[in-house]
Amino acid sequence: MTAVILEGLSKRFGSTVAVNDLNLTVADGEFFTLLGPSGCGKTTTLRLIAGFETPTAGLIRFGDRVVNELPPQRRNVGMVLQNYAVFPTMTVFENVAYGLEIRGIRGKELSRRVLSVLELVGLSGLENRRPEQLSGGQLQRVALARALVIEPEILLLDEPLSNLDVQLRVSIRKEIRRIQQALRITTVYVTHDQEEALALSDRIAVLNAGRLEQVATPFELYRAPATKFVARFIGRTTVLAGEVCDAGPDDLVAIRVDGGLTLRAARLRPVAPGERVWVSIRPEALNPVADPAAANNVVSGEVRYLEFLGPVVRGELKAEGVAEPLLFELGRPGPDWPALRGRVLHFEVDPALVSYGLERP
Ligand SMILES: Nc1ncnc2c1ncn2[C@@H]1O[C@H](COP(=O)(O)OP(=O)(O)OP(=O)(O)O)[C@@H](O)[C@H]1O
Ligand SMILES: [Mg+2]
Repeated sequence: MTAVILEGLSKRFGSTVAVNDLNLTVADGEFFTLLGPSGCGKTTTLRLIAGFETPTAGLIRFGDRVVNELPPQRRNVGMVLQNYAVFPTMTVFENVAYGLEIRGIRGKELSRRVLSVLELVGLSGLENRRPEQLSGGQLQRVALARALVIEPEILLLDEPLSNLDVQLRVSIRKEIRRIQQALRITTVYVTHDQEEALALSDRIAVLNAGRLEQVATPFELYRAPATKFVARFIGRTTVLAGEVCDAGPDDLVAIRVDGGLTLRAARLRPVAPGERVWVSIRPEALNPVADPAAANNVVSGEVRYLEFLGPVVRGELKAEGVAEPLLFELGRPGPDWPALRGRVLHFEVDPALVSYGLERP
């Protein structure tokens, strides 16, 4: 298999800079996700890797080879799109066989490879069905089988689950991960769904307006976002503004948030007293305490908003000394949960779930 290396990759469409000086390396066999909001350049990056677009600047390498000049059919890349892109008049077998036929593979070898990939994606027995006789999830598996049957060095998937309902999305994403692990194929996956990205990826690149914000493992992105954009985009959080008041010497940093309250965060990166920072507080950082005097790093306030989500109720706390409402969650709610509305609650804030960074000038 093959690493994918992007060096100073840029793509302009007229005055739009879709991809802006992207530098990243997808390791051999890695499941790598491009994550970001609509229009941030995910599809364009994938199309550049596949060879359907020509870069305005920069290099694309597969391992040691620069592939900028190679046409798509010579890049040995399998691609799965959001809208399946299967041939409506062909059977499942014929759809999957097509990519092999145009490569000159026929007869027993053709059948063997088609049937084995259909088994891999869980479609055995449906060879003779036509696309209109398949569910959305089965169609997506056909699209995946078509991409895999050519035994590509690199697999590219562009929002392959976005047409499916939530339950199917979760079960097919597990299948995609299983197949990727079994084949150890270098995979670049595009999504704007942060939960999907966290669940699937070895590493994630967060893109914002064509630029890279951060590349990291799901855990690092969640716990140590490099920018305010990443903190907001991954998971739920409250982002506050504040000023560093004490930067050490222990492993905690004290930050006075706008509104006056001082909170402690685990030291993530060097900052100095007086510097303006953003502060991200995950809802699960807030642990309820009965006696605020006996706890550290406490926020207290009135419950302003509350919604029932099954495993938790999620609410907003109008906390004393904090300018913005703080998100919190309480686990295993009982039937009397609505009575919490308007109550004053106290929480101890876990410094490990508070992150911060310098405000960009
Ligand atoms: N062929 C094109 N001509 C002109 N502009 C384009 C073209 N393709 C993409 N763009 C622009 O480039 C930017 C990035 O588009 P891209 O399709 O890569 O975004 P995306 O991250 O895949 O978004 P989405 O999540 O909505 O699919 C957008 O502003 C888009 O309008
Ligand atoms: Mg797209």
